[in-house]
Amino acid sequence: MKTIVVFYSLNGNTAFAADRIATTLKADLLALETVKPYPKKGFAKFFHGGKAAVFGDEPELQPFNADLSGYDLILLGTPVWAGTFSPPLRSFCHLAKSCLGDKIIAAFASSSGGSAEKAFKKLENEVGYQFSATLHLVDPLTHPNEGNEKRISDFCRALSNGKNE
Ligand SMILES: Cc1cc2nc3c(=O)[nH]c(=O)nc-3n(C[C@H](O)[C@H](O)[C@H](O)COP(=O)(O)O)c2cc1C
Repeated sequence: MKTIVVFYSLNGNTAFAADRIATTLKADLLALETVKPYPKKGFAKFFHGGKAAVFGDEPELQPFNADLSGYDLILLGTPVWAGTFSPPLRSFCHLAKSCLGDKIIAAFASSSGGSAEKAFKKLENEVGYQFSATLHLVDPLTHPNEGNEKRISDFCRALSNGKNE
């Protein structure tokens, strides 16, 4: 099953999860980058990122190959921002929506402790399809937790078991 992991990460936690998932599933990786970067530190990080999430911004992304036609499974990864998914995922969904119809789609999210359920629901609404599986981790890079490896491998196993080759 040809798989791609598409993610946005501001401080590396979602990227860490994306990397582990891509390695386990032997998937390609696509890191979304905004043309105008969000601040990475301090008050500005929460102010600008939080505002962008709350107001449903759709930031311009750095160019990427949006041809997903060769993939069967697409995983979307995002940090939780103000209880929802991060704006670069909205931009990606907008650009790639027409290619998503015949794919299996799953999602993972990193938060600092808050729930990711609302973020998954809202991202599902944005994508227009239900996720086949979801995984929520708490700051897996900056607060490593020994349970994370198992949770990542359980998630990947669930996706592999669902494969229809
Ligand atoms: C703008 C902004 C808003 C955030 N809002 C939440 C939130 O609502 N709930 C939460 O648990 N964590 C929140 N966080 C923390 C991040 O979701 C968390 O640290 C995540 O692991 C960061 O992922 P990253 O390193 O890939 O950027 C927020 C972080 C930022 C920058």
